[in-house]
Amino acid sequence: MIIFAHPSYLRSRANRALRAVAERMDHVTIHDLYETYADFLIDVEAEQRLLLDHDHIVLMHPFFWYSAPPLIKEWLDVVLDYGWAYGEGGTAMAGKTWTQAVTTGSAAHTYGPEGSNRFTMEELLRPFEATAHLCQCRWQPPFVVHSSRQMTPDALADAAHDFAAMLEGLIHG
Ligand SMILES: Cc1cc2nc3c(=O)[nH]c(=O)nc-3n(C[C@H](O)[C@H](O)[C@H](O)COP(=O)(O)O)c2cc1C
Repeated sequence: MIIFAHPSYLRSRANRALRAVAERMDHVTIHDLYETYADFLIDVEAEQRLLLDHDHIVLMHPFFWYSAPPLIKEWLDVVLDYGWAYGEGGTAMAGKTWTQAVTTGSAAHTYGPEGSNRFTMEELLRPFEATAHLCQCRWQPPFVVHSSRQMTPDALADAAHDFAAMLEGLIHG
């Protein structure tokens, strides 16, 4: 299941291109948080039921201020509840894979100790990795598309192809 979050999807190019290939794939559920919860009032039980029905969780979003759009944070805060996702008796997420699928505005070379963004994507995504770990999920290498606002149609198509291959890899183990 792709947990999709883009607050201005009408203006999206990169996430739109990636999502389009996922929409054509079997065994992939796309759950659009901003479409479902424009008011930010998340139905926790419905979200938990959806999670129980899926083995592989992909959090897909544009990279915003080294993190995610705010509805992702709200979703994490209210859905991954103590005693359900972590803590005493909280094993509902155990064994699922967790993958971040992220598009960035900045170029790949800016993400590192010498670059303007100073840290690598792996480092910046650590809060998600720690969350996955606490919920006993299996953290997968993040899928990252850089320079997403400058991409040519061919480059977007290549990224979408790679995204589909990553999803196929999850589905078929
Ligand atoms: C509020 C906001 C914060 C952003 N923060 C970052 C950032 O921290 N790093 C980065 O590389 N790009 C950042 N960007 C650029 C977006 O990641 C980029 O526009 C997006 O990935 C493009 O995807 P889309 O075509 O699907 O909208 C930011 C954009 C906005 C609007």
